[in-house]
Amino acid sequence: MKLREILKGLDILHSTADMETEITGISYDSRSTAQGDLFVAVVGTVSDGHCFIPAAAEKGAAVVLCQSVPQTDIPYVQVADSRYALAAASVNYFENPAASLVMIGVTGTNGKTTSTYLIKHLLETQLGAKVGLIGTNCNMIGSQELPTARTTPESYELQRLLREMADAGCTHVVMEVSSHSLVLDRVAGIRFRVGVFTNLTRDHLDFHKDMDDYAAAKAMLFSVCDAGVVNADDSYASVMTARAACPVSCYAINDENAELRAQQLQLLPAGVRFHAKTAAEAEEISLAIPGRFSVYNALGVIGCCLALGLTLRQCAEGLASAHGVKGRVEAVPTDGDYTILIDYSHTPDALENVLKTVRETCGGRVVALFGCGGDRDRTKRPIMGRIGTELADFAVITSDNPRTEDPDAIIAEILAGVTASAEKYIAVTDRVKAIEYVIEHHQPGDVIVLAGKGHETYQEINHVKHHMDEREIVAEILERRKHK
Ligand SMILES: Nc1ncnc2c1ncn2[C@@H]1O[C@H](COP(=O)(O)OP(=O)(O)OP(=O)(O)O)[C@@H](O)[C@H]1O
Ligand SMILES: [Mg+2]
Repeated sequence: MKLREILKGLDILHSTADMETEITGISYDSRSTAQGDLFVAVVGTVSDGHCFIPAAAEKGAAVVLCQSVPQTDIPYVQVADSRYALAAASVNYFENPAASLVMIGVTGTNGKTTSTYLIKHLLETQLGAKVGLIGTNCNMIGSQELPTARTTPESYELQRLLREMADAGCTHVVMEVSSHSLVLDRVAGIRFRVGVFTNLTRDHLDFHKDMDDYAAAKAMLFSVCDAGVVNADDSYASVMTARAACPVSCYAINDENAELRAQQLQLLPAGVRFHAKTAAEAEEISLAIPGRFSVYNALGVIGCCLALGLTLRQCAEGLASAHGVKGRVEAVPTDGDYTILIDYSHTPDALENVLKTVRETCGGRVVALFGCGGDRDRTKRPIMGRIGTELADFAVITSDNPRTEDPDAIIAEILAGVTASAEKYIAVTDRVKAIEYVIEHHQPGDVIVLAGKGHETYQEINHVKHHMDEREIVAEILERRKHK
């Protein structure tokens, strides 16, 4: 593609490049730069791409898109913001695939993955649509699963994936839109037909300076969509609606002014039931994922699908046939009168929600096994410690993904927040040993929540992902118990 076509719409400060240059690829990591590429020097949170211009030139980059003038002798195009320019160039290079797709974006601290899976299921079962999904667990083109490195891909990979989805015949794409992706222009250039807000609670304060900054980041979604769907019971709902450049409809359990409401809630061990009501109609809803938070997820999904033209009846039918999401309140087999749930709760709010959910239907003890990730928001560790030991009858504090941090140091920060008495918890650094402990010491009626890893089948230590699948670990422990 000609350089001028790739740069269409971009404000150029200065250029020494020939706009008729034929560009055969785009890269922003010099390790993957190829002959004929446009290399985009992005100022990262960890490293600055401008330092890698010599390496990219060495690899045969034809032109550099940059913020500051390169020291290397290579044709360049200077812009004010190269991270934004990477997104704009990628949209042009892949011929703006989002323009031919019905784009749905879900943002919020918790519930994004669950909601995107449910929206996909409704569009497939009720409209017969071919749907692309982009999120934490994996990316999907129809039923085909593709691995993913993060909840919302970098702009170049995102546009390439959207092109693949459009070419594969997808008509709709539902994606998780993290606050990082909004601030870092990963979704720049995409117009969303519907934007959904689930909730906002404490997380990512290693990236955002405070909760207001975090909320403002999420609210950016509502300046690039045609219709907004917002959880009116959330304390940051007004921030989302205030920043919206589109009509917003609200859903709620408590707020009586919401356009869509849930009433007569039934919170059951394996799911929820409630009446969904709008001004015009009402339907009985049932969803096979437990927890009051699942009522909120279902309402957000319904609000989104109503905005896309489905009827409330169709939403009810779709949700009734939906099954759970991997690693979200997922039950695994045990060898006795107790339950083990694998859940991706890794924030204070999610841990609180899942433990309260379990408490509502548990006949025995609630047992929590949890840790905190390394190289992430440290301020939430003591809070997780307090919540996990207060809301469970017994807690085992262990490792999650320590990454480059000392696992015992992380556990010490979690323990710093614990106020519960000593007999209510122990710390076991090795997660496999911790799982063995809760199984070996289970009591009849226990509901054991393995919190934090969810769908993950690895443990990340010092940049290495070691295979670790809690489903397999539980099965192996049960197998060994058989032979005791
Ligand atoms: N609406 C909700 N409100 C609060 N907690 C929720 C909600 N939905 C799910 N959870 C809890 O949070 C966990 C994570 O849910 P989910 O993966 O859907 O969130 P997410 O927003 O995709 O998270 P991430 O930002 O890590 O991708 C679940 O396992 C459950 O414990
Ligand atoms: Mg997610």
